[in-house]
Amino acid sequence: MFFKRLREEIDAAMRRDPAARTRLEVALLYPSFHALVAYRLAHALWVRGWRLLGRFISQAARTLTGIEIHPGATIGQRFFIDHGMGVVIGETAEIGDDVMLYHGVTLGGTSLSHGKRHPTLESGVIVGAGAKILGPVTIGANARIGANAVVVKDVPPGASAIGIPARVVPPRDQRQDFMAYGTPTADLPDPVARAIGGLVDQIDRLSARVNELEQAGKDRAGGAQVSPIAPEGAPEGRVAQLPLRTRG
Ligand SMILES: CC(C)(COP(=O)(O)OP(=O)(O)OC[C@H]1O[C@@H](n2cnc3c(N)ncnc32)[C@H](O)[C@@H]1OP(=O)(O)O)[C@@H](O)C(=O)NCCC(=O)NCCS
Repeated sequence: MFFKRLREEIDAAMRRDPAARTRLEVALLYPSFHALVAYRLAHALWVRGWRLLGRFISQAARTLTGIEIHPGATIGQRFFIDHGMGVVIGETAEIGDDVMLYHGVTLGGTSLSHGKRHPTLESGVIVGAGAKILGPVTIGANARIGANAVVVKDVPPGASAIGIPARVVPPRDQRQDFMAYGTPTADLPDPVARAIGGLVDQIDRLSARVNELEQAGKDRAGGAQVSPIAPEGAPEGRVAQLPLRTRG
């Protein structure tokens, strides 16, 4: 039974990594496989109450593979981590069958409480390189998380989520060419760029207004340097006497 399962894990790696050529290569050289074998052992010890030994094996595997899987995590069959290195899977994370992670993925917690605080990944989920999934969120079956995304909310089954914080993008086959109200939407810049554009426009308008006020002040004073923002009640045309601050 144990060896049948190991064989399934190796076959899963070969299906998902075009670079894997033989089972022996995966068994000898793939950090994902080594980390998983260590995890299965550490988890078996953990659930039987051998917690320190479970943690010890988990940390030893981390040193060897760069993949840290807490022995308390729950991981289904045919799990594969491509490239390994820099992967962290927290204590209360739950992972279904046929899940794949790339390097640099964190399934992390956001709370110091002892309850469920790490994500749940349902079966068939793929998590791109460097993505962080934080808190007790659920990633629905067969969803895909984009490289470097930071996910802090649930992702529906089958969806793709990208960005920081992650947002769901419609699947290619559901994107429609129909343009609501005839408004082209393809070239809309992203919301941050639009907000910055709005601020730049505002600054231009304010600069123009300040120039107008300065010019008006100069005209009133017959060319003298006048502050347009004179204190209330100051005689018209007089330069505002502001205290000078000196060093020391
Ligand atoms: C998220 C992902 C699964 C999306 O695949 P998809 O559903 O086919 O989506 P598309 O490629 O059609 O992209 C959809 C939109 O999201 C954008 N996008 C895709 N991946 C993105 C990412 N990781 N971060 C930010 N934006 C991303 C695309 O530019 C596109 O934007 P547009 O509609 O404005 O043109 C894929 O891009 C991804 O990141 N996979 C992880 C791969 C990986 O980590 N490989 C490591 C190998 S070592």
